[in-house]
This record gives sequence, structure tokens and C-alpha cells, in this order.
Amino acid sequence: MNRPIALFDSGIGGLTVLQSVVEVLPNENYVYLADNAFFPYGVKSYHELEKRIKIITKYLVSLDAKAIVIACNTASLHLEAIKKIAKIPVVDVITPTCNKVFGVTQNNKVCLLATDATVRSQRYQQILQNRGIDVVAVGCSDFVPLAENGSYESAWADDIICQKLSGVTNENFDTVILGCTHFGLLKESITQVLGNKIYVECGVPTALYLRNILTNNNLLCNYGSVKLKVITTAKSSISESICNRFAFIFNDIVVEHIPL
Ligand code: DGL
Repeated sequence: MNRPIALFDSGIGGLTVLQSVVEVLPNENYVYLADNAFFPYGVKSYHELEKRIKIITKYLVSLDAKAIVIACNTASLHLEAIKKIAKIPVVDVITPTCNKVFGVTQNNKVCLLATDATVRSQRYQQILQNRGIDVVAVGCSDFVPLAENGSYESAWADDIICQKLSGVTNENFDTVILGCTHFGLLKESITQVLGNKIYVECGVPTALYLRNILTNNNLLCNYGSVKLKVITTAKSSISESICNRFAFIFNDIVVEHIPL
């Protein structure tokens, strides 16, 4: 039996990462944990979230995962704590996303859209500014429920996004970091406001980074088909529209509710 790769997020946002990971690594067995009992992560205090994330990590390790992907930027702030407990390869989304940004910005000015906790931590800003990139950061925790509740294609969601981003539309950044995995679901509305820029999402860079780490640790599986188990920590369902959006990874999906 191929040991699973475990991914987690506060809810459905990390599915945007899972989608890219499955495209790059199509022979693996996956567990995706949506920690919706503790949703949203981005407005919790650092210590409160670290405590919760340790519980989630211990649970994922107990499933005999061979690697953990922190499919959440806010949770990625706790990479070191997770590594300490997990003792298996752990991949965050912030490191590979920053590496991608270095390669694409032409004018060295980027706009970071992320949860309030991620923006407050200054993690992205420090990494990017150390490499000479200017960062305009906008804390957008209020976008997260729009994605999680499936209201991302509504006029109401568009209004909230438009209002929040109106303060940065005149800045001359050429690159936008969707620094929250939920924001991939809002990309169309965000693009309508910020226009023609280079949009960097976490999924593809994280998937490629994971493949390198698995290869280096001799953990890659080269045969078999995608198997996915979704675990939710609260009883809420993964909605039908979300399943449709991610249909190709949801073939043969098993959803289980585990109160943690
Ligand atoms: N999807 C998560 C991220 O990438 C956080 C969403 C939340 O606030 O729960 O930061």
C-alpha cells in the first residue's frame, strides 16, 4: 500500500493546491483534511492556531502519511512547529510561491493578497524584500468566507472584492500573489479589479517543490491512479458546486467526518 501524501487547510481553499499536486503527481494516494471545525484560520491568534495545527499534524502522522503539504499560507507560518512534530517531509506554500515570484516580476514590485494573519506576520514581505522586491500587502480575510461558502461568483462577492482592492489599483506592481489558497477560487473577480497582471498562485510551485522533495527522499510513486480521501473536522459538507469544480480529482472520493 502506497503511503498517502497528506494535505490540509482550514477548508476548501487547499483544494486549489491539491489540484496542481495531482496534476504533477498522478500516481499517489492522498488524504485532504479540511479543518472546517476551526475555520477560518486567518483571524485566529498565532498561539491559538499553533496549538490547533499541532493537533492536526499529529493526526496526519497517525495516518502514516509519507509527507505533509501545508495547503494553507496562514498555517505555513507554523512550518517549523509542524516539522518538529512530523518527522516526515513537510512542504509549505510560502517558500515555493516566493521562489516563483522571483522568476516572474519584471519591475520588482508585487501586490500580496493574503489573510490578515499572513500579512501581519510579514513572512512574505521579509523573504521578498530581502531579494529587493517591493511589496504592497492587503489583508483580505473577509474574502475567505466568500470562497468557502461558494458565493464567489456573486455580485455581492464582487462588491466586497472591489471595495477592498480599490486602494491599490493605482500602484504600479506587475505581479499579484494570491497568498491565500482560497483566493484561487476568486481569481476572476480579483482580475476584474486589478486587471492585466501576472497572477501567482501557490498550487503549481508547491506541487513542483513537493515532487523534488519526494524524489530526493526516494518517496515518489510511479504507478497506480489517484486515490483521495477527504476528511472534514466539522459536519458541514463539501458542496456540490465545489465537487463539480474539482470533478477530476473527486472521482472515487471518500469523505469522512472526524471531529478533532
Ligand atoms: N486558505 C488559507 C490560507 O491560505 C486560510 C484561510 C482561512 O483564513 O481560514 O491562508
